[in-house]
Amino acid sequence: MGAAPEVTRFAPDAGNTRLLRDAFGRFATGVTVVTCGSDAGPVAITANSFTSVSLDPALVLWSPARASRRFAHFDRAEHFAIHVLAAEQAPLCWAIAEDAHALRGEAPRLSPEGVPLIDGCLARFECRRKAVYDGGDHAIMLGHVLRAELREDGDALAFFRGRIGVFAAE
Ligand SMILES: Cc1cc2nc3c(=O)[nH]c(=O)nc-3n(C[C@H](O)[C@H](O)[C@H](O)COP(=O)(O)O)c2cc1C
Repeated sequence: MGAAPEVTRFAPDAGNTRLLRDAFGRFATGVTVVTCGSDAGPVAITANSFTSVSLDPALVLWSPARASRRFAHFDRAEHFAIHVLAAEQAPLCWAIAEDAHALRGEAPRLSPEGVPLIDGCLARFECRRKAVYDGGDHAIMLGHVLRAELREDGDALAFFRGRIGVFAAE
């Protein structure tokens, strides 16, 4: 038997949010880009808070940080699109994490509701906002999926312990 792994235990409070973030980061997720239209053109954010919620009705959620400079755009948007990134889209993940308007130069295709659509993703969910819930320093955006698409192949971009990786299905 090997030595027991070192464990850190704590009660979350305002003084140890870094540790809580690290603990949350032990949950491996995929990576999405959420887009919406705005007066300032296409707005996007990289988000790993996406969760599928309901099949019938088709519902999904994600959580934007209230402190984000992009928050007001998503708070106002009646429609948004969630793009599940493929392994080869890591550069897009970082570009959009750094710049809300990274898509501006790309002149992305717009949905009938004016939402920027990115191609080449593993899946895409075009949503109408159904509800916004209080989520502390984040908001919880529940979306009704109006249209969805999925790619038949491709590996996933993954996020774990603050790092991007690739998840390849066997
Ligand atoms: C992999 C990854 C996942 C992220 N997930 C979220 C998220 O779910 N919600 C969120 O508000 N920001 C998330 N972010 C941060 C935003 O993408 C972006 O970096 C941040 O909003 C930048 O600050 P600004 O909006 O003030 O420019 C994530 C960033 C990365 C790289």
